[in-house]
Amino acid sequence: MPNAAPSPAPNAAPSVGSLSRADLEALWLPFTANRQFKANPRILARASGMHYWTSDGRQILDAVAGLWCVNAGHGRREITQAVATQLETLDYGPTFQMAHPVAFQLANELVRIAPNGLDHVFFTNSGSEAVDTALKIALAFHRVRGEGTRTRLIGRERAYHGVGFGGISVGGIVPNRRTWSSALIPGVDHLPHTHDLARNAFSRRLPEHGAQLADELERLVALHDASNIAAVIVEPIAGSTGVLLPPRGYLQRLREICDRHGILLIFDEVITGFGRTGSAFAAQEFGVRPDMITLAKGLTNGCVPMGGVLVSKAIYDAFMKGPEGIELFHGYTYSAHPAACAAGLATLALYEREGLLTRAASLAPYWEEAAHALRGLPHVVDVRNYGLILGLELEGIAGKPGARAFEVFTRCFERGVMVRQTGEVIALSPPLIIEKAQIDQIFGTLSAVLRAQ
Ligand SMILES: Cc1ncc(COP(=O)(O)O)c(C=O)c1O
Repeated sequence: MPNAAPSPAPNAAPSVGSLSRADLEALWLPFTANRQFKANPRILARASGMHYWTSDGRQILDAVAGLWCVNAGHGRREITQAVATQLETLDYGPTFQMAHPVAFQLANELVRIAPNGLDHVFFTNSGSEAVDTALKIALAFHRVRGEGTRTRLIGRERAYHGVGFGGISVGGIVPNRRTWSSALIPGVDHLPHTHDLARNAFSRRLPEHGAQLADELERLVALHDASNIAAVIVEPIAGSTGVLLPPRGYLQRLREICDRHGILLIFDEVITGFGRTGSAFAAQEFGVRPDMITLAKGLTNGCVPMGGVLVSKAIYDAFMKGPEGIELFHGYTYSAHPAACAAGLATLALYEREGLLTRAASLAPYWEEAAHALRGLPHVVDVRNYGLILGLELEGIAGKPGARAFEVFTRCFERGVMVRQTGEVIALSPPLIIEKAQIDQIFGTLSAVLRAQ
């Protein structure tokens, strides 16, 4: 590479310490209060293992794996070097009417750890694209089998399925929908959410009450007739809405009702995939096999954008028995991008080598005890946990939605721990390489911050 600037040493901090207020202006940050943030920015300059370092050199313990994605911890050489090598070998290759070896390799490795029977994968670049792809596959599947009246989609209140028009239509987070209300896709219903503080507060692992909420699907079938319903999509554990765990038996019941009526069941495992619950996928952890699984985040350990949809053999075969020619008029320029595939392959190898797909199960009891020790601290109205996931719900402040939890988030950051705030909830999902002493640090910090509220 003539005239190329020398590469910085791995993990060297870029020179962002001297950003001025004016330098912050051009960037429009997603899901961020831009004016508030730019007045008091939090700039992450580098990362390694369990930690970030801010541009002013402070070490921050990452209790959320970036954004639920860096499951093997930051700066993993095995992944970054695989990506570099791939880019030098084949930087880009289309996957429309041609392909490259690493795309097949990743598909095969993914299918190997997927629930039995989910043996094909369609690649996207994000979770949002994975969701919209799964919804499109559901509609196309019924159509190619001659059941084209099955067009209705069923999501759930409080669900997060990304930000595409499909995802916000089946999603149930109000601020993500209300601005675009008139543009949501038609023919969508929502199941009730499963959050029941009155009966389930301070549950450990799966809550006891609420399996019967799945029966609402029967009510929608009675209303619309199954011949008009294509698919149901749910997060096995809902994250962005504040960590809602499925009541015991709920997912099984959804599966039974879908089977009874020929409705496809889609699990959105963008956050629960790749070891978060203690199994590779929540579908395996909970013993319920959906017809499709949407993926992203942990697929590449967060280091290159990538998503995907795992589909059952029955779905794939239905398309392959359809008319000759292109079976699905859908795809992205960067579907199965070589760099993303190389990152995915190296990531899956790392997960396997370090036992990370099941490590959450062995740490879960320690995590659970540390989490529930927060019970009784000021303003704590619920602690809920599963695998290496925590939802800590706080009493809201009248007229200031989310303000208390946001305050806890900023105070924790000042004390060197990055947590995530969503509404009145602090959500935790650390890298799966976390050690017990770091669990102690996270909960010690949260405890100190809550006591000071
Ligand atoms: C369950 C779920 N689905 C979809 C998405 C969207 O993924 P992305 O932000 O990669 O588009 C997310 C992101 O947090 C998610 O949690």
